[in-house]
Amino acid sequence: MISKEKELAKISTEILQCKFCLKNKRGLLVVGEGCSNAKIVFVGEAPGKEEIKTGRPFIGRAGKLLRELIALTQISEKDYYILSAVKYLPKNYITPKPKDIEHGKLHLLDQLAVIKPKIIVVLGNTASISLLSEKIKISEDHGKVIVSKNKTEVGLKFFLSYHPAAALYKKK
Ligand code: URA
Repeated sequence: MISKEKELAKISTEILQCKFCLKNKRGLLVVGEGCSNAKIVFVGEAPGKEEIKTGRPFIGRAGKLLRELIALTQISEKDYYILSAVKYLPKNYITPKPKDIEHGKLHLLDQLAVIKPKIIVVLGNTASISLLSEKIKISEDHGKVIVSKNKTEVGLKFFLSYHPAAALYKKK
């Protein structure tokens, strides 16, 4: 049986060669990183300026805050995975557009289907639109746990949270 790590590496290669992502990107594509057996996955929005220089997720200001907050918990770096709803920083970046989210969802679901986490932490509205519904508003629904009854969706439990950038820029 092919290991989760190998399956994830295969998906990463597909993302890095994806024509749609390559056409829309600015800087490097960011596929995500973490432990392939992670029980918990954090899903953000899209890489920012720092991330597209290195290809690593959440290493800018918001990322440092997220990693610091996770470090305050019992969750070890070996136990989680970090992904984003969109794998590129869109040209003329403001917030990913529906077409970016719709496309990113294909890659995101592929990755989550391999990792099969117990819980997915949905960081902000873009991740929530991608994985759940446009009806959810993180400003109203943060802190809630949604248990998905739809068997076709990956992951059963979603924890809704503000994106860490919200604490820095009061925007998301
Ligand atoms: N915001 C995200 O959602 N992802 C990153 O990698 C960086 C900032």
